[in-house]
Amino acid sequence: MSTFPSRFSDKVALITGAASGIGRATAIRLAQEGASIMLADIDQAGLDATMATIVDNGGQADSLHFDATQNDSCIAAVEATVKRWGKLDIVGNIAGIVSFWHLHEITAEMWNRCMQINLTAPMIISREAMPHLIKTEGTIINMASSAGLGGQAYNATYAATKHGLVGLTKSLAVEFAKKNVRVNAICPGGVNTAINDKMRWPDDIEPSMLSRLMPLLDTMAEPEEIAGLFAQLASAESSFVTGATWQIDGGQLA
Ligand SMILES: NC(=O)c1ccc[n+]([C@@H]2O[C@H](COP(=O)([O-])OP(=O)(O)OC[C@H]3O[C@@H](n4cnc5c(N)ncnc54)[C@H](O)[C@@H]3O)[C@@H](O)[C@H]2O)c1
Repeated sequence: MSTFPSRFSDKVALITGAASGIGRATAIRLAQEGASIMLADIDQAGLDATMATIVDNGGQADSLHFDATQNDSCIAAVEATVKRWGKLDIVGNIAGIVSFWHLHEITAEMWNRCMQINLTAPMIISREAMPHLIKTEGTIINMASSAGLGGQAYNATYAATKHGLVGLTKSLAVEFAKKNVRVNAICPGGVNTAINDKMRWPDDIEPSMLSRLMPLLDTMAEPEEIAGLFAQLASAESSFVTGATWQIDGGQLA
């Protein structure tokens, strides 16, 4: 057995969105490198699958039914993680939803739902986690998007949530820098996950606008590539990185 240290030995992570895609890949990557993971998601079958992959490979994980639409559930996710593992080092706010609409189709209900899941839940989780992260000099990584750095046609709701998440990231990085809590955002372009399979496109769209969604490279990213960047930012190798928005978008915004 190797005696090389793992980057996340003795670290505890709370990962939302852990049932699928980027969240699942991130949870598995951190577990591979020695972290104990609280897997949080609304999709129980997906949680069970992520849990099985980690535990069957000798990793440490537990899972929690988590609904980002409920503020109490955000609070409970942090409490359960600290109760289970005794502390908290890494928070990954990864759960999210997207759907494309013309402006005239956007209702207050769909706006508020997207805002709650993509932005309010990360804020509540960050607020609840912060006292624990101050103790461990831990870190928060928010899964924003290329839509958090530039406008996208038919995607105003999602882009507003992700721009908001970038603002939350930078503000918390500033506010807690003196406590040695680092806060960063990852801004992926297209990633090969279920979120794209479920995507709804509105009628009568202007095709030239879609070029702003496309990478310059030929392919989309795989979720494991985003997980690799997450692990790098969460590790001590990134101890001087805070308040950053990391593009991983195949040149989309270059
Ligand atoms: N895939 C992409 O192209 C892409 C690009 C940029 C940013 N992102 C962001 O990455 C994050 C992860 O997305 P993904 O691509 O892995 O998609 P995904 O659909 O595979 O995973 C999203 C996860 O969020 C969970 N979720 C949704 N609503 C929830 C709720 N109310 N409560 C709890 N969990 C809920 C889902 O169950 C799912 O497991 C999202 O925040 C998304 O906006 C994705």
